[in-house]
Amino acid sequence: EKSEQELWEEAQTRKAEIVHKKKKDTNEKEYDLIFDDQIDFVMQETTKGYDKRDKKHRISNKKIKEEEHGDDDISVIKPVTEHEKILAGRKKLPVFPYREEFLAAVKDHQVLVLVGETGSGKTTQIPQYLYEIGYAELGKIGCTQPRRVAAMSVAARVAQEMNVRLGKEVGYSIRFENCTSEATKIQYMTDGMLLREILTEPDLASYSCMIIDEAHERTLHSDILFGLVKDIVRFRSDLKLIISSATMDAEKFSKYFDDANIFMIPGRMFPVDIYYTKSPEADYVDAAVVTVLQIHVSQPLNGDILVFLTGQEEIETATEILTQRTRNLGSRIPELMICPVYANLPSEQQAKIFEKTPKGARKVVLATNIAETSLTIDGICYVIDTGFNKQKSYNARSGMESLVVTPVSQAAANQRAGRAGRTQPGKCFRLFTAWSFQHELEPNTVPEILRTNLGNVVLMLKSLGINDLVHFDFMDKPPSDALIRALEQLYALGALNDLGELTKLGRRMAEFPLEPMLSKSVIASEKYECVSEVLSTVSMLSLGASVFYRPKEKAIMADTARMNFARGGGGDHISLLRCYSEWVATDYSNAWCFENFVQVRSIRRARDIREQLESLCERVEIDYLVSKPDDNDAVLKAITSGFFYNVAKLGRTGDYQTVKQQRTVYIHPSSVLAKEEQPPPWLVYFELAFTTKEFMRQVAPIDPSWLVEIAPHYYQPSDVEDSKNKKMPKQRKMR
Ligand code: CDP
Ligand code: MG
Repeated sequence: EKSEQELWEEAQTRKAEIVHKKKKDTNEKEYDLIFDDQIDFVMQETTKGYDKRDKKHRISNKKIKEEEHGDDDISVIKPVTEHEKILAGRKKLPVFPYREEFLAAVKDHQVLVLVGETGSGKTTQIPQYLYEIGYAELGKIGCTQPRRVAAMSVAARVAQEMNVRLGKEVGYSIRFENCTSEATKIQYMTDGMLLREILTEPDLASYSCMIIDEAHERTLHSDILFGLVKDIVRFRSDLKLIISSATMDAEKFSKYFDDANIFMIPGRMFPVDIYYTKSPEADYVDAAVVTVLQIHVSQPLNGDILVFLTGQEEIETATEILTQRTRNLGSRIPELMICPVYANLPSEQQAKIFEKTPKGARKVVLATNIAETSLTIDGICYVIDTGFNKQKSYNARSGMESLVVTPVSQAAANQRAGRAGRTQPGKCFRLFTAWSFQHELEPNTVPEILRTNLGNVVLMLKSLGINDLVHFDFMDKPPSDALIRALEQLYALGALNDLGELTKLGRRMAEFPLEPMLSKSVIASEKYECVSEVLSTVSMLSLGASVFYRPKEKAIMADTARMNFARGGGGDHISLLRCYSEWVATDYSNAWCFENFVQVRSIRRARDIREQLESLCERVEIDYLVSKPDDNDAVLKAITSGFFYNVAKLGRTGDYQTVKQQRTVYIHPSSVLAKEEQPPPWLVYFELAFTTKEFMRQVAPIDPSWLVEIAPHYYQPSDVEDSKNKKMPKQRKMR
């Protein structure tokens, strides 16, 4: 076993080697031989590495005390079995030397703020430590994660470390998927799930400890949780609360939780060289691919690559191009193992990112923001940062919420760069210029609560009996515009009465783990007698990613298959419904999915979602068997009952205007209506996505007279008549 000191020194020399080799390897001629494109980078700075492991730290009121600490005792029997190796690995994590101290701190303090570098073992180890010392006998140990993938993969990892079956002692619960049992002692869950649990268990009685993990991410749900758990610990003195964060803004958390103590896990970071592009890159996906190849051929093989992209689509595109290009290069370059990671990735594929890279090959992980702090992948030494992520953005004045590709903050970019220096000195290639970093990026990421539609959260808080939202103890108060807007929207949907109190409808809506507009549609389907159809449609809409598969080489066939579902009208919503119903009619056939370019795992997930919605329907006494096959209007009316806010009408020039705010929007190219020769004069849309233009995703034609019928408080006859008289290009009768 090499000592840490030796490893450190070795890493330093390796760095020298890399620099040296690079000079040799990036031999221009050889380079040209392989690529016709490449990107010019300039090295700007090197982050300071540090080693704080021996400068002992930590607890005391907000001061970081230095004290002596014994050796990192890694005296283990030589590991033989796979499981012994895992156990040995646990003891090497940065958090391990502080186990006793941490547990003592938990014993002494009800609320702790835990800070430690990503990868130090907070998420996987802390719950186990609490378990090992007996907290599970008093109640479950809960740990929240902002992302589904993180909750699942971490639970799987911990189950493996504890040598138990996932779902038994260690489980997870995420929206539409519960993998826990009576036996579950350590429960990972998304922060949204914990919020829902608080609805049924307001004092978290079944828990002895709760860890709000990745607190620095400041997701909407964790911000709300902060306010709720802060209150819960006041009357449940036996509940231990740990707020865990990867970055150093611990002071803010501490202050918010009445000056809670901070426990620091001293960490280590190797220096990282930061490179910027010389000039801005027009297409960052393409630039990322080129950079991967550039690194792959010019840098020594003993370091894997992590690329930050913004979403599944981009990751799939990049995967495709990379696969293609490496295939073309064949044996001229070493093998490249390409591993995508994003929120909807099936779990079998998730495991692949943690697999050890085979000798003679290199791994490249193409990830969303998830790899910024929630997942640690060992062996990464090159980071490629596109400088973007997908963020919700909300304009309270217009009521528009859209997912927008947004530049990351400087803090996030630095966090990303840090991923390269975890185990040895690394390099980070930023696909933007140094100037842009300095002048165009915000210093810090804006918490989600300040830039989102609060509809769902307000509904949830109202059903928790928290009526006075203005005085709710928010860590950062959402803009009052946004709060008012949410209240208005819930009022328009009928979820709140004039006094701002929850109505019976609102109470029923709150039962569904869906956005208020979707839950309203489900409930309205009862009236239009098409519950079964709406449940299928809503389940398909809730997938969050396309259910259709479109391989580049078979794009035409895939498009034809997809357009087949559109035959008979009804736009994207009814196409999704047809797709789902046909699949059910084939008895959930995989072969059918294959023939129709439908992703099996996605549509299966829709089925799971649907099953859960059925049982929730039962709870609020909606008969989910009620069905009106082939009545598309009924389905679209139910959808419109929830989505009457999202209506656009066709303008003269072929673009659309949203009805109330008069914003110019376009049909997303992925829609079955995108190539329609006679675009429908009125549309309801599911969501807006701003990429090159403001696009409506998932659209369906509606009859404008429905609006007055469905939402008379929101639409005046003049809103819809006005435009009826206007000449539309080739206006046609609605179905
Ligand atoms: O939460 P924190 O970032 O402090 O660390 P962690 O997620 O507990 O990760 C500790 C170690 O477990 C890292 O070295 C990870 O690579 C490893 N891990 C893993 O191998 N597989 C997972 N699914 C999750 C973590
Ligand atoms: Mg973690």
